[in-house]
Amino acid sequence: MTRTGAGFAFALIFAFLVACQTSTTPVATPTPAPGAEAKPEGGGELVIFSWWTAGGEADGLNELIKFFEAKNPGVKVVNAAVAGGAGTNAKAVLKTRMLGGDAPGTFQVHGGSELLDGWVKPGHMAPITKLFDDNGWRPHFPAQLLDMVSANGEIYAVPSNVHRGNALWYNKAIFDANGLVPPTTIDEWMTMCKTLKDKGITPLSLASRNKWEVLHLFENLLVAAGGADFYKDLFAGKIAWTDERVKKALTILKDLLPYVNDNHATLTWDQASGMVQEGKAAMNVMGDWAKGYFQAHQWVADKDYGAVATPGTVGTFFVVTDTFGMPAKAPNPAATLALLQVIGSVEGQAAFNPKKGSIPARTDVPMDAFDPIARAIAVDFGKDVLVPSAAHGSAVAESFVISLNDQLSVFIQDKDVEKSAAALEAEAKDLGVRAP
Ligand code: GAL
Repeated sequence: MTRTGAGFAFALIFAFLVACQTSTTPVATPTPAPGAEAKPEGGGELVIFSWWTAGGEADGLNELIKFFEAKNPGVKVVNAAVAGGAGTNAKAVLKTRMLGGDAPGTFQVHGGSELLDGWVKPGHMAPITKLFDDNGWRPHFPAQLLDMVSANGEIYAVPSNVHRGNALWYNKAIFDANGLVPPTTIDEWMTMCKTLKDKGITPLSLASRNKWEVLHLFENLLVAAGGADFYKDLFAGKIAWTDERVKKALTILKDLLPYVNDNHATLTWDQASGMVQEGKAAMNVMGDWAKGYFQAHQWVADKDYGAVATPGTVGTFFVVTDTFGMPAKAPNPAATLALLQVIGSVEGQAAFNPKKGSIPARTDVPMDAFDPIARAIAVDFGKDVLVPSAAHGSAVAESFVISLNDQLSVFIQDKDVEKSAAALEAEAKDLGVRAP
């Protein structure tokens, strides 16, 4: 069973967001990459840069490297992963490498603004359109994913996977023991949190050590508070951050805080997922790389744990897509191309995604070998309203993602809704996310 492409509306909205963010400076045209048929005959070294070091994500990467090495025995792959979920530390290291004449062979980057504004627009990437055309790949990737890796008619990266950002993970044993069914609305969720807390169980695990984890939850709450169109308009700069729906999302976040673990400031995302797996918390909101983490800890989908869309977001799908491209100064372009060829292939995506916890970016990868939660997520991807994640680089420029992370980190301390909304609006104006 394979999948078909997903909602067209996302393509339009995404094209709009990209157009808003990329129209001011023309894209530089670096030297075209060598042809798809190029083989790394000289062998040599290939550095693959990412932040996949936690349980599940590291396993997916290793699987990919193993698969590549079997096909390209002459190439020595160097795994240059830098720990820190969502690229917390990796992004700065990558910048130093790229700008300091030490480009890796390829690197993990989110489709959308992070790739297009961050690397393509300043001329740091070479197009790989020929790789797609020579392999006849275009029809096998959803149009909206291709939009997220394209600029000025050229394709710049291969999407390796799609993660669902808005998922609520729950410990089945805790739910069963307390006669709970997964919540679908914010009200149901709050009531359930209170019931669990009254019984001495931590309802929701949260990490905030690297800040982005709070934005990850908050962007889900923006959709819960105002819907998918509101979310897209907000990030397109059409709605003020002082809007009542932003304040409502902040208020929901504030109302959830009494139900989260006290030590969230010391935890990373995988430690918060670990709390659910160890029975120390009932639920956690995280992308489905959490499923990779659970699997790596021998937890079985739909038996030990379940997943539903984050309450209030049913019918909306937060798209988090990791992609890999060709740096304009890649030291061994033939080896990079050979790896991109693997990442974009049916077999490569079938090897990588089950361990990673994601669904394949291609729609023609057989899903039978995937767990039932992945299969359900693939169905939702084909029918839900798709929205680009801000926490994971797609919806808005990195500078504003940093503002959001910083403001939310203040908010979870002082819980001042009016102050945070005003501060976000001011930063959105300063950074050109909204017209001044
Ligand atoms: C996201 C990335 C995922 C996963 C996660 C946690 O930004 O897209 O693949 O790695 O961070 O590290």
